Amino acid sequence: MLIKKPSDIRPSEITSESNYLSRRDFIRAGAIAGGTAFAPGALGAIVPEERGAALSDVGKSPLSTDEAPNSWEDITTYNNFYEFGTGKDDPHRNAQDFKTRPWTITVDGHAEKTGSFHFDDFIKPFDLEERIYRLRCVEAWSMVVPWVGISLAEVVKSFKPTSKAKYVAFQTLLDPVQMPGQRRGVLDWPYVEGLTIEEATNELSILAVGIYGRVIPNQNGAPIRLVVPWKYGFKSIKSIVRISFTERQPPTSWNISAPQEYGFYANVNPEVDHPRWSQARERRIGAGIFAQRQPTLKFNGYGEQVAHLYKDLDLRRYY
Ligand code: MTE
Repeated sequence: MLIKKPSDIRPSEITSESNYLSRRDFIRAGAIAGGTAFAPGALGAIVPEERGAALSDVGKSPLSTDEAPNSWEDITTYNNFYEFGTGKDDPHRNAQDFKTRPWTITVDGHAEKTGSFHFDDFIKPFDLEERIYRLRCVEAWSMVVPWVGISLAEVVKSFKPTSKAKYVAFQTLLDPVQMPGQRRGVLDWPYVEGLTIEEATNELSILAVGIYGRVIPNQNGAPIRLVVPWKYGFKSIKSIVRISFTERQPPTSWNISAPQEYGFYANVNPEVDHPRWSQARERRIGAGIFAQRQPTLKFNGYGEQVAHLYKDLDLRRYY
């Protein structure tokens, strides 16, 4: 994974949101946010802004951290999304015209229910919840992100995986026309990731569709991306088009690219260094250029929820 010098870091700001959509309107809101053209006023009460349409009926969660979230600007301009370039500011510049409607998600493999679903139908059965989570990138920077998402456990259960389903594999869209990074061999495209079924059904795992109460911006993985906060950020795959229930451990992009550096598990662990740098501390984006690096927490501070999943696993070997 490339390491870039930090670009300009902006002070944190917490935005209060005012214009909300009902959950039923999410679909229409997303259709606007995902498109390039927008006719002002077309949706009556909905007032889309530069930041994308607001969502409503978003529940709160006891799993949220009370640490201050990073600013909208930090979260949406300092990104890793190699399909749109390897620079931290490439995704927000290059993903603006990315079409996230129509969007189809295919579910296949060892489950009673499989098939292809329009994004709207896929998320409709599930409650939207705000989850304010720490995000720790393997490159040793971190943020706090107020995601809006649906419970991955609920999604997994709804497809009724069979006893053969030991893992859940995820795939990003493959579209080199829209995604300029896919015309270069930085990674084996499409980006793929995976979790054990126990990890996928842990209460912390979500599929995010929003940030700061608004439709998720393209550069953050629109229209739907995984968020597993106790793992390094590269596990949280963006712009998902396929979810597969598998018997065998699925291949994962960074592990294919550099197996000595990036394992399947990728649990945040300050005791296991990356071969090329220490993982003991992290740089909080937005903290200011003079701020000390802060200590990295095992499982990114989510040990209470997830440590039991790894009690029989040698975390040095299964990094
Ligand atoms: N998903 C895809 N498809 N492509 C990527 O390059 N980068 C990963 C992850 N998901 C990536 C991806 C990495 S390394 C990180 S740290 C997070 O996305 C960053 O998420 P953010 O840009 O929303 O902060």
